[in-house]
Amino acid sequence: MMPSMARELPAIAPQSEERSFAEDVVLGLSSEPKKLPCKYFYDARGSALFDRITELDEYYPTRTELALMRAHAPAIAAKIGAGALVVELGSGSSVKTRLLLDELELPTGYVPVDISAEHLRSAASSIAADYPGLEVTPVAADFTRGFAIPKPRPSTRPSNKQPPARCVVYFPGSTIGNFTRARALELLSAIAAFVGADGDERPGGLLLGFDLVKPADMLVRAYDDAQGVTSAFNLNLLTRINRELDGDFELDGFEHRAVWEPGPARMEIFIRSTRDQLVHAAGHSYRFAAGEDILTEYSHKYTLDSIRALAREAGFERSTIWTDPDELFGVGLFQLAD
Ligand code: TRP
Repeated sequence: MMPSMARELPAIAPQSEERSFAEDVVLGLSSEPKKLPCKYFYDARGSALFDRITELDEYYPTRTELALMRAHAPAIAAKIGAGALVVELGSGSSVKTRLLLDELELPTGYVPVDISAEHLRSAASSIAADYPGLEVTPVAADFTRGFAIPKPRPSTRPSNKQPPARCVVYFPGSTIGNFTRARALELLSAIAAFVGADGDERPGGLLLGFDLVKPADMLVRAYDDAQGVTSAFNLNLLTRINRELDGDFELDGFEHRAVWEPGPARMEIFIRSTRDQLVHAAGHSYRFAAGEDILTEYSHKYTLDSIRALAREAGFERSTIWTDPDELFGVGLFQLAD
């Protein structure tokens, strides 16, 4: 029997970049232009606000991706084939993951990878409870720093013939949009190496959810809704800094801003200072001019051509893309050549 080798996703961010919330805030607010990493949105209140965003009329991505998975999971699973090890980047308790697992033929395992150990535990245990034959191996990691997973144990299924092993990375939710194109290429290249690891009997693939370029007004509304939920979500970052890093941001001196930039094809999300002010947090002070922005997130949008080109450049030679009739969102299966 083959030795139980680890499969490794190479890091795209060097280890030295690892910083605490305080260090990231000091560094980001001392930079020119100012910026804050989007991963800090998701404290308890931020996560609850994001859940509300996903239900807004204006925010089409979540429901559109879900509808695509409902409609096409059987076709996606057929293209993936039997015996897949599913590695999900981001937490995986969601309906989308279940839709995929429900349709796959004899999946050999499910590996949710998440930065939040708490998310991960609940995701892994709810899937394990509902899929008794499935080996679930949670990995607590920031996937941009790389991680290794053990080879799945040989199947204990009654059938004496195991399906050929292959690995599929599931990366839903348009999270790829938070990466610049250069970083997205690095990540997809790392994933291509990961799913093409030696020892697999069949080439693997990447199942990717991505948001599509569309008219600017619709994009801007999705990131600046009428009820102000997205504004509250964005500004909650300042509330979090006040609470956790002894900050003194005055919330009424800042406003949410969402801008579509057609050149780089991305939404740019900012917190703008509405007046000249001096703010303290994490033991430092930061001067803001009236109208000065803090960049908090990029959300890149793709076309069918641009996502295919990106996947091809990363080494995925075959692509199959499913979209809704209005072409709002895409789910693509990108596979290595046989
Ligand atoms: N990454 C998600 C997206 O691009 C999250 C998100 C939705 C978001 N609305 C936001 C991030 C507003 C910052 C601000 O769709």
